[in-house]
Amino acid sequence: MIISSATDFREAARRKLPPFLFHYLDGGAGAEQTLRNNVDDLQQVNLRQRVLRGSEQLDLGTEWFGRRYGLPVALAPVGLTGMYARRGEVQAARAATGRGIPFIQSTVSVCPLAEVAQAVEQPIWFQLYVLKDRAFMRDVLQRARALGATTLVFTVDMPVPGARYRDAHSGMSGPNGPLRRVLQAMTRPAWAWDVGLFGRPHDLGNISAYRGAATGLTDYIGWLASNFDPGIGWNDLQWIRDEWQGPMIIKGILEADDARAALSFGADGIVVSNHGGRQLDGALSSARALPAIADAVKGRMTIFADGGVRTGTDVFRMLALGADGVLLGRAFIYALAVHGQAGVEQLLAILEKDLRTNMVLTGVKSVGEIGPHLLV
Ligand code: FNR
Repeated sequence: MIISSATDFREAARRKLPPFLFHYLDGGAGAEQTLRNNVDDLQQVNLRQRVLRGSEQLDLGTEWFGRRYGLPVALAPVGLTGMYARRGEVQAARAATGRGIPFIQSTVSVCPLAEVAQAVEQPIWFQLYVLKDRAFMRDVLQRARALGATTLVFTVDMPVPGARYRDAHSGMSGPNGPLRRVLQAMTRPAWAWDVGLFGRPHDLGNISAYRGAATGLTDYIGWLASNFDPGIGWNDLQWIRDEWQGPMIIKGILEADDARAALSFGADGIVVSNHGGRQLDGALSSARALPAIADAVKGRMTIFADGGVRTGTDVFRMLALGADGVLLGRAFIYALAVHGQAGVEQLLAILEKDLRTNMVLTGVKSVGEIGPHLLV
C-alpha cells in the first residue's frame, strides 16, 4: 500500500492492529460528534491564496519557552503508545528528536520515562493527570524533574473518562479488559511481532507511572476512572505550580474564561483541546473554540491546539486561527503502528513538505507570519 498521508497510515493501521486497539485509538466519546467536528471544522477553514510573493528561504522553526524547535508541532501525549509498536514511546521520541520537535510522554505510558529520557538527547515534556493520590503526583513530578523533563503538560479535561462506546464493545473497558484482549489479538501476527509479544514477555504491566496498574490490569478504563480525581478545582492544585519550576502547560482548555483562569494559575501555556473528542461529546471542536481563546490570552501565554490535525495544511490552519503550536495525536500513532519510528519520521516529513507548500501558496516566509489575516 502506498502511503502519502495520515489517512493512508490510518487505513494501514486499521488493517494491522487488533480491533480493540484500533478502536481505542480511533474512537471518541458518545456519538463521536465532537471527534468528527474536530476534523471537519478544521478542514473547512478557508485560507487566502496569495501569488507572486514567494521566497526560497522559508523558516519553519519556532521558539517556545526560550528553546528553538524545528517545526511548530509536538507529539501529543497518548496513553499506551507502547502498545502500538515495540518500545513505542522510545521510537516516537526518537522520531520527534530527529525533527527537533518535542515528544510529550503520557502519564499512562508503557515505557518508563527513564528509558525514554535515556534514549534521546532532547529533553522530554512530561504529561500529568490529576490523580486522587497526591503523594504519588508529587513523587512523579520529582522523578520527571530528576530525569531532565523540562516542561510539564498538565491535563485537566479528564476528571472522569468519557463514555466511549467502542471500548465497551471491544472489551477495552469492562471486566474482560486488555490482557485478555492482548492474548486474543495474537491472531494478528504482524502486530504481535511488532510489539514484542513473541520472543519476550510483553510489559504492559510496566505502565510507567502508576502503582497498582501492574500485571493485574484487566479493566483499563475502569481503573482510570477509579484513580482520577473528579472533585478538584484550581485552588487545590496551586501546590503543583509551586512545585514545578519549569514551564507548565494546561491541556484541555476550550473556553476563554478557563484560559484566563489558567493564566492566573501561573501557567505558561495552554493546549486548546477536547482530548481528541474523547471526553465531552458535544463540546466545541478545537478549530471553533480557538479564535475566542486566542483573543483572550494571545501574547500572554503560549497557545497550543490539537484535535483533528491530519495534514500540514491543518497545522497551518491552527496557526492561522491563533495557535503558537500544534499537537499531533492520532496521526502519529497511526504512523507508529504501521512503521514504528520510520513511520513517524515519514509522517513528519509529509507534514513539513505540506506546510512548506502552504507557506509558498499563501505568501509567508516564516511560521511567525501565519495569522488570522490569512483566513477568509
Ligand atoms: C489521547 N490523549 C491523551 N491526552 C493526554 O493528555 N494524556 C493521555 O494519556 C492521552 N491519551 C490518549 C490516548 C489516545 C488513544 C488518544 C487518541 C488521545 C489526547 C491527545 O493528547 C490529544 O489531545 C488528541 O489525540 C488530539 O486529537 P487528534 O490529533 O487525535 O485528533
